[in-house]
Amino acid sequence: MTGPGVRLAAEELHPALSDPVLDAMSFLNEIMARHPDAVSFAPGAPHLSHFDDLDPDRYVRRYVAHVAARRGVSERRARQVLFEYGPSRGLIGDLVARALHADYGCAVPERSVVITVGAQEAMFLALRVLGRTPDDVLAVVNPSYVGIIGAARLLGMPVVAVNDTDDGPDLAQLAAECRRLRAEGRRVRALYVAPDFANPSGTYLPAGARRRLLELAEREDFLILEDTAYGFTGPAARRAPTLKALDPGARVVLLGTFAKICLPGARVGFAVADQPVAAARGERLLADDLAAAKSMVTVNTSPLAQAVIGGMLLEHGGSLAALGRARAELYNANLAHLLDALERHATGPDLHGRVTWHRPRGGFFVRMRLPVPADAALLERCAAVHKVLWTPMSPFYLDGSGTHEIRLSCSYLDPGEIDDGVARLAGFLRSLPDTRRRSP
Ligand SMILES: Cc1ncc(COP(=O)(O)O)c(C=O)c1O
Repeated sequence: MTGPGVRLAAEELHPALSDPVLDAMSFLNEIMARHPDAVSFAPGAPHLSHFDDLDPDRYVRRYVAHVAARRGVSERRARQVLFEYGPSRGLIGDLVARALHADYGCAVPERSVVITVGAQEAMFLALRVLGRTPDDVLAVVNPSYVGIIGAARLLGMPVVAVNDTDDGPDLAQLAAECRRLRAEGRRVRALYVAPDFANPSGTYLPAGARRRLLELAEREDFLILEDTAYGFTGPAARRAPTLKALDPGARVVLLGTFAKICLPGARVGFAVADQPVAAARGERLLADDLAAAKSMVTVNTSPLAQAVIGGMLLEHGGSLAALGRARAELYNANLAHLLDALERHATGPDLHGRVTWHRPRGGFFVRMRLPVPADAALLERCAAVHKVLWTPMSPFYLDGSGTHEIRLSCSYLDPGEIDDGVARLAGFLRSLPDTRRRSP
């Protein structure tokens, strides 16, 4: 293309923009748009049925009445506040702090809560604030959520990956990384971990593993960024305490979102950072620094969106668990349905040993291993011929592995669609070349 005007070269822009991880989210949206007739196991998005009876006006009214009663102001004034700029730390920190106490047993001061534009902004701010120089390194499990890897890339924060096990991060490897970096004059500043049915692995850390991780953080002196995105999507009876609730020494910065249990379109999440920060002008909390950074990124989270979420929380007695209950039931039923459908359709001597998958106890995601590389070209062929979509796992890995793995998400579909999709998927799996060694 020629003509007048400026033409930029990708090499002149930030190098992170050439990292495939930044394309991972838009790639899925594009392929879904191109194949509207395909059953999609790709998005980790909430089921649309929950949006039918959402009533934002009612939630805003509920929140306004609450604020008017609590602060002793008129409803008119409480409403006006929603149309103005607001404080960078947000308006609904009190509700979030109370919910964390009620649901998780986390006693955190309201001052330690910053309401963010989704958990994604909370991650970005936490990394921005904690990484002083490139010697401050972020540790993640391999594979990890692309949102945290992409944020670290954009901020130029180095990342080290440790293997994921059934009990979460490989602690021996993590300790070795801490020692290795220390010997180089660098440090693991923080570990990012999603202990409740991680995206994309589905890993759930048992209570003992959570305690051992905190002990290691204390011994090796790093912080933990605990992403609770799927915290209230799993079976209630099996919930282990959050790392934050087990954390007497304020090692944990908790990151949360209302996307999975309310609605992602509100773009409301939060960070809880009660770490004291010693400064010349007196002691402050890390949350104050997150809010200061936020004031230069998004200024504040939309007060209207906060009011919608605040009203929803209030309608559910101020409890995240109560708010997420109906959705959790649907997600658990869908996951059981997906695992059952895979057992019915994707087993048999022809697939035995060629295709394997793990069976998570909750969350949205099932990880499957194929006999061939699961790249964009294979996904394209699967979509065009078999009319079913999945997510390639390799962008979630930092070391180029995961090439043969795919992620199946059950959150977005109805049971009938899951059956149909798994039948199509089984046809696709059976069409893959048999790479098993045959006896001569
Ligand atoms: C593990 C994890 N954390 C955070 C998010 C994003 O949350 P939000 O939409 O609030 O930015 C997601 C979304 O898929 C996720 O899977």
